[in-house]
Amino acid sequence: MSRIVIVGGHGKVALLLAPLLVQRGDDVVSLIRDPAQAEDVEATGATALVVSVEEASEQELAAAFDGADAVVWSAGAGGKGGPQRTEAVDREAAIRSMEAARAACVSRYVMVSFAGSHGADPVPADHPLRTYALAKLAADRHLVASDLDWTILGPGLLTLDEPTGRIDVGRFDGEAQAPTSRANVAAVIAAVLVDPASTGKVIPFRDGHTPIAEAIADVPDEYADLDS
Ligand SMILES: NC(=O)c1ccc[n+]([C@@H]2O[C@H](COP(=O)([O-])OP(=O)(O)OC[C@H]3O[C@@H](n4cnc5c(N)ncnc54)[C@H](OP(=O)(O)O)[C@@H]3O)[C@@H](O)[C@H]2O)c1
Repeated sequence: MSRIVIVGGHGKVALLLAPLLVQRGDDVVSLIRDPAQAEDVEATGATALVVSVEEASEQELAAAFDGADAVVWSAGAGGKGGPQRTEAVDREAAIRSMEAARAACVSRYVMVSFAGSHGADPVPADHPLRTYALAKLAADRHLVASDLDWTILGPGLLTLDEPTGRIDVGRFDGEAQAPTSRANVAAVIAAVLVDPASTGKVIPFRDGHTPIAEAIADVPDEYADLDS
């Protein structure tokens, strides 16, 4: 059994992830900022903990991570609150959470990032997701430079499609728009948490053809270069 803290615990991916982890025996703590969301979170079998990552200090986040085996970042401003909030949540709070994980001696950290943030040709300057993509990229750069045991996931455009359990790994043209079901993202997070070989890997993916365990088993190291 592992103790996993999910940041962004009431998010759509997180609410799909928590039951997968609980069902295999993990102890899940889901961070939320609105106490009214606790009931939904606890229905998954997770324990809800109210901490706004936007406001919480590194020390407060470290306290929330205390005793965990892994932190999963699945929070996001979701474009609400404009560019300033995108910066505050998707970049600054994410980076603070990485430092908090280090302070709490939680070495394993899984980031749900965005395919459009990576590669030689990320989303163009006039793209509506540009600010978001750059905020995620800045957080990812911080993670790659850290001494955490990180894995960065790069799904495309998230959908509410049913899980297929099958993905394609790789950089693709138009990857920012590549449909990727949140249920598959949840399954990929669950899989990398028990796959030490995924440490130090950036995994760009979308819905596809290969069973998840097989698809993540041999991800090329080259994707860890976020700029190519
Ligand atoms: N949308 C896409 O197409 C896309 C593509 C690639 C990657 N991603 C990333 O995938 C991840 C999961 O996406 P999703 O669809 O599950 O997102 P979501 O449903 O919007 O969930 C994000 C969660 O973050 C929480 N959050 C926001 N600010 C917070 C704060 N200050 N303190 C604590 N929690 C806070 C939100 O809480 P509230 O309910 O209180 O607002 C929400 O529950 C995110 O990291 C996102 O950036 C998204």
